[in-house]
Amino acid sequence: MPRLEEDAGRSDILDQFKIRREQVSDHARVYEIQKAAFGQDGEAHLVNTLRERARPFVSLVAVKGDDLVGHVLFSPVTIEETSSSENSKEAPTFAGLAPLAVTPETQSMGAGSALVRAGLQECARIGWQAVFLLGDPAYYSRFGFELAAEHGLRYESEAFDAGFQMIELVPDVLSECRGWVRYHEAFSDL
Ligand SMILES: CC(C)(COP(=O)(O)OP(=O)(O)OC[C@H]1O[C@@H](n2cnc3c(N)ncnc32)[C@H](O)[C@@H]1OP(=O)(O)O)[C@@H](O)C(=O)NCCC(=O)NCCS
Repeated sequence: MPRLEEDAGRSDILDQFKIRREQVSDHARVYEIQKAAFGQDGEAHLVNTLRERARPFVSLVAVKGDDLVGHVLFSPVTIEETSSSENSKEAPTFAGLAPLAVTPETQSMGAGSALVRAGLQECARIGWQAVFLLGDPAYYSRFGFELAAEHGLRYESEAFDAGFQMIELVPDVLSECRGWVRYHEAFSDL
């Protein structure tokens, strides 16, 4: 599994990609990567807004040679519960993975996978206990994501059930949770 370079202290990185935390000097290139991958600037703008307003957040880049070729961001989500155990006094903390982007000319070479794997490690390190995302299960199931609706957790409406997924970073942390997962308000502008 790839590790963040500075954490690993060695190049324990998936093949040709180095994964590291985003730096301020990366912001303009990250905007370009997000815009190129999605073919619009909504996700790139979302990243800028989440950097300003979401706390905490995890923002990682994939580097190939001297160039940044991928980016992923994780920000906090909450669960508006429809039922739960009454005894959990300390609210667990959860993240949403979005947006994930790799430049079109670098796709299908492993950068996206390296970003997801390193990102999940970083989320666990800072104490997030589960991660949610909306995406294609054919891609994300390889990292251990499962359909959230099968665990009673949903996003916005049942129309999203086929793509809304979750992974527990702490075993069984979501076993008592049922309800609606809410992302940062910046996502409503997307
Ligand atoms: C999705 C994305 C981040 C994947 O990154 P990547 O570096 O291209 O992917 P990887 O090299 O890690 O993995 C390649 C595999 O993923 C598959 N894959 C890539 N994008 C996929 C998608 N949207 N749905 C399903 N499978 C996908 C490839 O077919 C390939 O499959 P294989 O391993 O069975 O051959 C990248 O393609 C991208 O930026 N796409 C445009 C933006 C986007 O859709 N972001 C995700 C929104 S949830």
